[in-house]
Amino acid sequence: MSVFTTKTVTLSDGTDVLLRSPEESEAQRLLEYLDAVRRESEGIMYGPDDDLPSLEEERKWVRGNLERDGSMHIAADVEGQVVALAGIDQAKFVRQCHSAGLGISIRDEWCNRGLGTLLVRELVDWARGHPGLEQLTLCVFASNPRAQAVYRKVGFQEDGRLPRRAKVNGRYIDIVEMSLWLDDSGAMS
Ligand SMILES: CC(C)(COP(=O)(O)OP(=O)(O)OC[C@H]1O[C@@H](n2cnc3c(N)ncnc32)[C@H](O)[C@@H]1OP(=O)(O)O)[C@@H](O)C(=O)NCCC(=O)NCCS
Repeated sequence: MSVFTTKTVTLSDGTDVLLRSPEESEAQRLLEYLDAVRRESEGIMYGPDDDLPSLEEERKWVRGNLERDGSMHIAADVEGQVVALAGIDQAKFVRQCHSAGLGISIRDEWCNRGLGTLLVRELVDWARGHPGLEQLTLCVFASNPRAQAVYRKVGFQEDGRLPRRAKVNGRYIDIVEMSLWLDDSGAMS
């Protein structure tokens, strides 16, 4: 089981945020969160024109996250509302399972308050304590300097760029691939 130990953190503006594992019973409100965040942000691949998962697919996603050993997902609540989701998933192939992909989103109103940095740090800490994981990877739009600033601050480095790999409202966007070695010696071996 990959369950995040629930805790409350306080942002620099004094806001208390509850960090916890997403639960299967709240699949509907997680879908509502996803629908809201994809409408607010042009910084994520998942857009308003894509199909939302069904309720059953969402339940299965939450269940799988809790059951998979190499997966850790965190929901952040403020006053009972989900304001952010972040997670990592270990690659499924044996030849790649030293690596896990990271994803994060935050409701617009709660961006730029330090929550993203805090959540990414929580995931990196968890990954460091997880046997077998050596590297975290992620993809970020070149047009998303705030996200890149957070990832760099936490220790991610740019590995390369995929030119024009996304197209948002008719505009091509390069995708930046980034990674972080959990133990510095991993980068050299
Ligand atoms: C990207 C995201 C996770 C960052 O989380 P956040 O809580 O907003 O970020 P934080 O407040 O922790 O930190 C933001 C940092 O970026 C910096 N920043 C903000 N806007 C910036 C910009 N336009 N250019 C460069 N740096 C910027 C801030 O100064 C801050 O750095 P500092 O703490 O060193 O001053 C969040 O904004 C988000 O979810 N956005 C919408 C979805 C998204 O883009 N997801 C990521 C997909 S890869």
